Amino acid sequence: MNNKTILVTGARGQLGKTLEHCWSASGLAADNELVLYDIEELDLTSSAEVQKQLNSINPHAIVNTAAYTAVDQAEQEANAALAVNATAVANLAGWAAGRACTIVHISTDFVFDGKSNTPYTPEDSTAPLSVYGVSKRAGEVQLLSGSQDKHVIIRTSWLYSEYGKNFVKTMLQLMQDKDELGVVADQTGSPTSTHSLAGLVLQMLSQGAKSGIYHWTDGASISWYEFAGAIQAEGIRQGVLETGIPLKPLTTADHPTPATRPAYSVLDRSKTLAGLQMDASNWEQELSRVIKRIATSIEK
Ligand SMILES: NC(=O)c1ccc[n+]([C@@H]2O[C@H](COP(=O)([O-])OP(=O)(O)OC[C@H]3O[C@@H](n4cnc5c(N)ncnc54)[C@H](OP(=O)(O)O)[C@@H]3O)[C@@H](O)[C@H]2O)c1
Repeated sequence: MNNKTILVTGARGQLGKTLEHCWSASGLAADNELVLYDIEELDLTSSAEVQKQLNSINPHAIVNTAAYTAVDQAEQEANAALAVNATAVANLAGWAAGRACTIVHISTDFVFDGKSNTPYTPEDSTAPLSVYGVSKRAGEVQLLSGSQDKHVIIRTSWLYSEYGKNFVKTMLQLMQDKDELGVVADQTGSPTSTHSLAGLVLQMLSQGAKSGIYHWTDGASISWYEFAGAIQAEGIRQGVLETGIPLKPLTTADHPTPATRPAYSVLDRSKTLAGLQMDASNWEQELSRVIKRIATSIEK
């Protein structure tokens, strides 16, 4: 019998759709009901709406994947970014306070300034460089300050999937359309497939993870340029691309963007792997899995 409810917010986003895809194969489906809400069903920035809807479905866990994720646009829309990435988190935490409801919240490597040259641990100091990063850090603070030590924050980076818009899909498209491509080579980070991240979220929900901040990636330490090279090679191998095009390394200065990105944002996932007995995901295998799903157009 389904006697508990898990709410996924941002359900039409990359991670939300992946959680929906992975749900039926997870052990949780046997005795939990999954409720999938995006902004049409529940605008998280409205405190009144959050109270009303959550009172009605009474979730025992909330996976908050909803976010304002337009990193460059956020520089012009700080209030909109803060509303979704911080106020909405406060609204969820406010409802969960005093109730038996755990929030699994997703955050980002962009809370760091990128001045490190070793992987960031969950305990390292944050110093976001962009409005998006500031708004995501503000969301973390909202959750930690009112948490009564029961909520979980997962920071992840360079998320991609077969859904929505992301670097892998953009590269594959540009590699089909262009004769050559310049890609930034002086920013280093870790690509993360929403499938490996969804696996972690479901594992945390099954196991009842200890509260706190966790880091999750697929374990690489590479530049966007190196990632593009791997995407092209795998795209050709799987027949998504007919042929390769020359890739040219660019500097961040060659490719200015409104929002400043950290030059280095590799996250140390060792606490997550040890604490949850998770198998370490492998970035090349994850890339191959997602390109296969893109190639076979299972769902986009
Ligand atoms: N994408 C990355 O590279 C990356 C990297 C590190 C961390 N993260 C974090 O990972 C999480 C999942 O990212 P994602 O790529 O799956 O995001 P996404 O595809 O942009 O999905 C976010 C979803 O939230 C919805 N949403 C926006 N405002 C809302 C509101 N007021 N109420 C309810 N829903 C709202 C969005 O709807 P609309 O599309 O209509 O706005 C969208 O469907 C986010 O917390 C993000 O900050 C992402």
